Amino acid sequence: MELLLEHEKGDEKTLIPAAILHDIGWSKVPLKLQKSNNESERIEALKLHIKLAPPIVEEVLNEAGYKKDRIEKIVAVVVAHQFQKPKDLDKQLLIDADSMADAFKEQFYSDAKAYGKTPRELYEFRKNNKFFTKTAKELFAKELEKRRKEIEKKGC
Ligand SMILES: [Fe+2]
Repeated sequence: MELLLEHEKGDEKTLIPAAILHDIGWSKVPLKLQKSNNESERIEALKLHIKLAPPIVEEVLNEAGYKKDRIEKIVAVVVAHQFQKPKDLDKQLLIDADSMADAFKEQFYSDAKAYGKTPRELYEFRKNNKFFTKTAKELFAKELEKRRKEIEKKGC
């Protein structure tokens, strides 16, 4: 998100906390659903991590001393990061930051492990990531190219 905001005009005061907290809903999603091999249960888990987020985000930000109107903005961005195609730039930027993170080293290799894919298979899959902003598209391509070179070098 910080990288994106160097080039895009998003609302930093909303987007940094939103980026930090966007997946906090997962903390209340039953593990059984999170780890399910069943497609519809996995979708259910994804929906729940959005649905369960608002009260947790509100509580954390309240305790941190955030004002009500700021908390509302942050919650609105968090709940739009999946299953939506928002027109609002801030909402688009959280989705872009989330998809961009897929190309960064630590997440890329831990995702490969978690999904039982080889780095090369995951690379082929991630190449299709879509973005709202040109900045995210370019930064993602640059980062993913580093993964391609690593895979080439290691032959995995
Ligand atoms: Fe998420």
